[in-house]
Amino acid sequence: MQSGHATARAGSNIALVKYWGKRDAMLNLPAAGSLSITLDALFTETTVRLDCSLQADSLSLNGQPADASRISRLLDLLRARAASRSYMAVESCNNFPTAAGLASSASAFAALVTAANQAMDIKLTPAQRSELARRGSGSAARSIFGGFVEMVPGIRDDGSDSIAHCLAEPDHWPLQVVVAVTNRSAKPVSSTDGMNQTMKTSSYYSAWVEGVASDLEQARQAVRARDFERLAEISEFSALKMHASALAARPGVVYWNAATVAGMHCVRELRAAGLAVFFTIDAGPQLKAVCLPEAAPAVGQALASIGGVTEVLHSRLGSGASLI
Ligand code: PMV
Repeated sequence: MQSGHATARAGSNIALVKYWGKRDAMLNLPAAGSLSITLDALFTETTVRLDCSLQADSLSLNGQPADASRISRLLDLLRARAASRSYMAVESCNNFPTAAGLASSASAFAALVTAANQAMDIKLTPAQRSELARRGSGSAARSIFGGFVEMVPGIRDDGSDSIAHCLAEPDHWPLQVVVAVTNRSAKPVSSTDGMNQTMKTSSYYSAWVEGVASDLEQARQAVRARDFERLAEISEFSALKMHASALAARPGVVYWNAATVAGMHCVRELRAAGLAVFFTIDAGPQLKAVCLPEAAPAVGQALASIGGVTEVLHSRLGSGASLI
């Protein structure tokens, strides 16, 4: 029975071993695996309503009418599974800056698939929701799950084995994340465009892809053993390598601003002084500091004092996408 409407919440996630590059652009299949943590304090809430009177899907994003074409393509896949023709009215709200390198597309597509699955009564398993969320945005496959999450690239052409799974629940190792926001506006180069540019023109891209499997194995072991130093080393290595491959594109893709770079030095100084903290950066200028809970207040204070840091957000690890 289709309930007709449902609301879901999904946390954004931050990759510690990055996803950067696709093996199939149409199906959004990653060229390599990735490993992330799901956040509880930065989330998207999405309500889906089936409406037979609509002539097309509609989207309201943070209270404003928005272009529905990207969500419509994903809803078409769900409609095909449900043998439904109903268009949908979708209302989506992020409680953090949208499209600024804070993984808003990850939480948005994970929440959308979870809400639409219920509204259309499709009864998808979490793995199937992960596969579908991936079609909206590669990193969204990971936001279906909570805690520490691994995305498996898969080998099948249809992408049916390109899904994420939970490596460890949040209480396995309750890390915290401090996000230093250095610019709230939407990023000028989307992650998809940045990846394309890197794949097509960066001679460092093949080296990047070749290294991911070994980075993943080290990150998995660090998470299993709760070895902070090891996770710090491998995560910064992965983030800097991803950006190095993008910087070496033609023209180079530069996501950092001065405050991003100041943030990296700040985090390394804090770590040298004995605080358990490391940084990571995605396709935008925000700096994300991952730390043990006892380090979070000092990390937040230090990042807030950097010129150009406009806001500091704190988060714990969160659970996977769920209905509310
Ligand atoms: O999910 P997308 O297509 O926006 O790509 C995400 C890419 C990074 O955020 C830079 C890395 C990652 O693994 O999340």
